Amino acid sequence: MKKWIRNGTIVTASDTYQADVLIEGEKVVAIGSQLQAGDAEVIDASGCYLFPGGIDPHTHLDMPFGGTVTSDNFFTGTKAAAFGGTTSIVDFCLTTKGESLHSAIATWHEKARGKAVIDYGFHLMVSDANDDVLEELEAVVNNEGITSLKVFMAYKNVLMADDETLFKTLIRAKELGALVQVHAENGDVLDYLTKQALAEGNTDPVYHAYTRPPEAEGEATGRAIALTALADAQLYVVHVSCADAVRRIAEAREKGWNVYGETCPQYLVLDITALEQPNFEGAKYVWSPPLREKWNQDVLWSALKNGILQTVGSDHCPFNFSGQKELGRGDFTKIPNGGPIIEDRMTILFSEGVQKGKISLNQFVDITSTKVAKLFGMFPQKGTIAVGSDADIVLFDPNVQRTISVETHHMNVDYNPFEGMQVYGDVISVLSRGSFIVRNKQFVGQAGAGRYVKRSTFARP
Ligand code: URP
Ligand code: ZN
Ligand code: ZN
Ligand code: ZN
Repeated sequence: MKKWIRNGTIVTASDTYQADVLIEGEKVVAIGSQLQAGDAEVIDASGCYLFPGGIDPHTHLDMPFGGTVTSDNFFTGTKAAAFGGTTSIVDFCLTTKGESLHSAIATWHEKARGKAVIDYGFHLMVSDANDDVLEELEAVVNNEGITSLKVFMAYKNVLMADDETLFKTLIRAKELGALVQVHAENGDVLDYLTKQALAEGNTDPVYHAYTRPPEAEGEATGRAIALTALADAQLYVVHVSCADAVRRIAEAREKGWNVYGETCPQYLVLDITALEQPNFEGAKYVWSPPLREKWNQDVLWSALKNGILQTVGSDHCPFNFSGQKELGRGDFTKIPNGGPIIEDRMTILFSEGVQKGKISLNQFVDITSTKVAKLFGMFPQKGTIAVGSDADIVLFDPNVQRTISVETHHMNVDYNPFEGMQVYGDVISVLSRGSFIVRNKQFVGQAGAGRYVKRSTFARP
């Protein structure tokens, strides 16, 4: 059966216009005002924007981390994503030294199978660039469609890789056409500062931020960029939090290098004072990199506006306050790092960005969907509303005012870091490949309906 979306305003990365959309099966088959829709089901989108489904380039579902496991699995996490207007995610597949890459990837497929409500791809972590791994990467990229490789420069003795590993990964990525992603913080420096703080008896959550200074992020960002230039490869810096890192990315881009950056809603609207809250409440705001001094927010917004940063990922890495964040009472190093953002990523960017005049409506679409699809090899199947593209479409009412709260969110976690925040805009309905998954704010999707997306190799957008 065809679907005919009428009276909406289509917004893409380049245009805003009134037109109807005709969907047949999983695809958009026509856009216009005089469509031959036959007996199509009519969907009235009066008063709504039609956005291409959001693509979240950075999630951690069902991931073991910090002595526990993230509280959203591929069902609860992707369902919450759908409520927030996100129809695709790219989740991080972790690897362990000595394990084959294929075995790690199989583990991640198993986590998603039968659970995902929306489409999903994987990035693959590289922790050890030995000869077996470097050889296996060819099949990972070409057969598995995993075309982005993640290297952690922080989390010493846990996930951190050394510069040799990063450099070898960059060289191999250049050969294979993969995009290398870095968590850019100087893990050795952080390790030293952390031990020093604990030795001095400083155990509160805010010391997480004090021991991860912006200079350590700037330094690692600059180092990763230098190695990328040396390898003539391509780099995507995840979760950029501060001016120091933005400056390095801007300088690299001015030189014409293939360097890209992502920030996250938390860095755009929250700041380091959140970690100072009493009664261990600050633990809810422990991210790596940490929340920064407030003035950095202006730098991040203007970097998004000016194209120095291209995307906003959620870095969704949820842990309950009760029983999970609480593991770090009396020792901030034991607070699992991360927070629940997958559902509110789009709304925060719309309400704080578009409504407040910091970015344009078309930039909003570019940042939350189109550029992600282009950078990660999913365009034009994903990332736009166009004839031939997947009918991943969000009906978004920009005029609704509402309050973000744990009482109404759908993430499987017992707090919301944006609790009480007043926002403009609400997701009314969501189609994933032509099928409703949210309809008039009710979930109508299906566990397991989400499909694995094999992605193309890197092409400079
Ligand atoms: O604190 C964070 N960001 N947790 C998730 C893991 C990571 O570093 O992305
Ligand atoms: Zn395989
Ligand atoms: Zn990270
Ligand atoms: Zn992350």
